[in-house]
Amino acid sequence: MKTKPYIQDDNVLAYAVGTTLDRFIKSKQADFPFATGELSQLLRDIALAAKIVSREISRAGLVNVAGAYGHTNVQGEEQQKLDVIANIRFTRALTKGGEVCAIVSEEEDEVIDLQNSRGKYVVAIDPLDGSSNIDVNVSIGTIFSIYRRVTPIGYPIQEEDVLQQGKQQVAAGYVLYGSSTMLVYTTGFGVYGFTYERSLGEFFLSHPDIKAPVDGHIYTINEGLQPYLEDDVLEYVAHCKQKGASARYIGSLVADFHRNMLKGGIYLYPGTKKAPLGKIRLMYEANALAFIAEQAGAKATNGKNRILDIVPTSLHQRTPLFIGSEKMIEELGSLMKQIK
Ligand code: AHG
Ligand code: MN
Ligand code: MN
Repeated sequence: MKTKPYIQDDNVLAYAVGTTLDRFIKSKQADFPFATGELSQLLRDIALAAKIVSREISRAGLVNVAGAYGHTNVQGEEQQKLDVIANIRFTRALTKGGEVCAIVSEEEDEVIDLQNSRGKYVVAIDPLDGSSNIDVNVSIGTIFSIYRRVTPIGYPIQEEDVLQQGKQQVAAGYVLYGSSTMLVYTTGFGVYGFTYERSLGEFFLSHPDIKAPVDGHIYTINEGLQPYLEDDVLEYVAHCKQKGASARYIGSLVADFHRNMLKGGIYLYPGTKKAPLGKIRLMYEANALAFIAEQAGAKATNGKNRILDIVPTSLHQRTPLFIGSEKMIEELGSLMKQIK
């Protein structure tokens, strides 16, 4: 038979479509010795739920999914309808896949035991981050952490399967529902970002091997907290202003983090005189972003310790969070030491 080799002709096309998330995940599976493909499948399940949630969010102004749900969650925060919808979508996707034995979610008081003792993985998730921005068409997100269970497969899950240090994460990521929808994740071999092409229904690799700038010119803090901030943080903010840094605060951690990681900057949610541990949740928010930050060459601390070293003692525990460009975090750290 007469054949001819395939030659890719990019000249006639405006752009090459590129690598899909599915293909990328498959190509990276070899990074894991003895991988059976379950983690890959789990990431694909998350991507599917992200597509569904992205669709629900983009229709929020048209159908009856905006606004409050009428309940408060375990942390005393008013749940929005989309918080509940996103929680259901992600939980359902993770349940169906069969790779997960337990889910912990910001929107659930207790660990969800999937009664799937063969499942190797535990997922911690903030299904919808930035709830206060849902109704005003501002960027929001999803944050997830994936851990391997530590007790033997085939037995009921235990507390130690769930309360693991951030450094035990095998993968973590976020979805940003912004001017485009993006999925960014790491499995400990760099950070990769994918942009959703809605008409094709696929995520495509758009940000390979993301590296955060070593220094930055953006500081991100809710300055409305000023009366309750400690002197060291106030001093650092004054220093940022003196340096001529720009203030940027969206109020959705995912969006604030994503911008700072790409452009260079620092995000601060400190403990305050009113709330000594701040607002950010260790298991659902800080750990995943800290893992991603470190993989991108940035840093994450609670002001004293590396976020990934904190030993969690309860599911919904909060932590002060300082995350961003290496130099800025180091500067903040030395200032904190001087003042304390
Ligand atoms: P969530 O919507 O998941 O409860 O998270 C909101 C968090 C975080 O996204 C954001 O950075 C922070 O709360 C904003 O807090 P303030 O309103 O105190 O600035
Ligand atoms: Mn959140
Ligand atoms: Mn949330």
